[in-house]
Amino acid sequence: MFSLSSRVFSRCNIQSSILCIVHCKHCTTSQKSRQPLQSDNLNSPQKNDFYGQPTPYTHPHLMKEGELIPGIELNEFKERRNRLMHKVVSTTHNRYHLAVIPSAPKIYMTEKIPYVFRQNSDFLYLTGCMEPDSVLVLSGDSSENFKSTIFLRKRDPHSELWDGPRTGVERAPTFFGVHQSLPISELKLFLMSHMKSYPGLVLWYDYLNAVNTEVHSVMTSVIDGANGKQIWESPRYFTHQLRLIKSPVEQRLMQESCNIASTAVSKAMAVTRPGITEHQLFATVDYESRMKGAEILAYPPVVAAGNNATIIHYINNTQQTQSGDMVLMDAGCEYHGYVSDITRTWPVDGKFTDPQRVLYEIILALQLELIQISKNFPSLDDLFHFMCRSLGYKLDEAGVFSSNVPKDKLAQVAYEFCPHHVSHYLGMDVHDTALIKRSIPIKHGMVITIEPGVYISKNNVLARPEFRGMGIRIEDDILVTDSGPVVLSALCPKEIDEIEKIVSSSTY
Ligand code: GLY
Ligand code: MN
Ligand code: MN
Repeated sequence: MFSLSSRVFSRCNIQSSILCIVHCKHCTTSQKSRQPLQSDNLNSPQKNDFYGQPTPYTHPHLMKEGELIPGIELNEFKERRNRLMHKVVSTTHNRYHLAVIPSAPKIYMTEKIPYVFRQNSDFLYLTGCMEPDSVLVLSGDSSENFKSTIFLRKRDPHSELWDGPRTGVERAPTFFGVHQSLPISELKLFLMSHMKSYPGLVLWYDYLNAVNTEVHSVMTSVIDGANGKQIWESPRYFTHQLRLIKSPVEQRLMQESCNIASTAVSKAMAVTRPGITEHQLFATVDYESRMKGAEILAYPPVVAAGNNATIIHYINNTQQTQSGDMVLMDAGCEYHGYVSDITRTWPVDGKFTDPQRVLYEIILALQLELIQISKNFPSLDDLFHFMCRSLGYKLDEAGVFSSNVPKDKLAQVAYEFCPHHVSHYLGMDVHDTALIKRSIPIKHGMVITIEPGVYISKNNVLARPEFRGMGIRIEDDILVTDSGPVVLSALCPKEIDEIEKIVSSSTY
């Protein structure tokens, strides 16, 4: 790439090679003819070449030739960037646009001890790059001629000795399929030069939700330096619109993530017996997920026995189960960047008591109804309103309330018994594509959860005493298709007979 800079520089009067590489309106050379030069003489990864992430050569058990991350080919990332830029430039045709999407930073737990790195999902979606302290910059005034630049940490033998190989700027254009790569240290100069050359430039950067403090301080100084002359917007909403609809390969990865988590949760059921701790059940689901190929759990799981299950975000997982308890486990895994999110509730003795069975049957019937209704492409909010109405009616019919609840108040009271939404989008993040409203109709290619529950704490006087101290949720992951909902987590049992059979055959 530096050979390109010097070649261009030699024809141009501008004192910044960076400025010249990216938008050489000062040179006569056409961008299109120059684009491939950086990567021309650099081959794709080969055996014995180590990059900042797995390749088909270093990790043949994970990925096939042509894939940039396991299961996803390089071309899909190029298409995603194209589609994003198409959305960006179509907002204002007569302006130059620059979109800045930072990676996650490396975060330290304590002096020199890093946390496990998790990439920013928007950045991973657009680049396939798993390295920290990197930035993707997309620029152009039409999606037909847009340019992609990835800023990366330079290769550095000392750092690589400690932290492992880096891809580095020289190999990045070929490896990530971008037009060019520059060292992260040159980000500011690159942006400033663009700001200067395009006074009406629209800067797409999510200023209000900074994901990387170092990049954010560069962006702040660039934006401050522009003295309010540039327009800035967040690219996140457009990225989330793209991420909302899963491509066929993403659907396959989600299915595998769900298969792994379903099997792991079933295994946790199978090892359950009175006296096992929440922590041991957590360890089981974690172990089984990793043994089947997941990299990590998707979130700190809820493993809640007895009354703990009435605390929606209970993640202490420190208690020992007792005979007569139910366990609520909400767990999912991350598989090559795609997550699952499953909840099951089961009796530690392998047999539901009568009040447990009454409540469980209500939630199971409701969950099956909601899955059926999803066939009609409602919004997630529609599903939520249905849940409140139906749950209120069902709890009333089963005699769960300790006093009479007027019919027109049933939905409102039900919300006190299930104070969370019944559905969210699922994908690379657990609460995926958070900028997409839950009021839009669902459609083919979306993955959603359906997760009704009921939580009656031991002090809840609105319920009859035999129903107190119990929390139940049943959560599945659903791929929406034109031919009906596909339950991706179908391998995880939820019928009473199946659950009782698995738990009572405890293998612990
Ligand atoms: N596990 C988080 C949720 O179900 O939304
Ligand atoms: Mn969920
Ligand atoms: Mn969940």
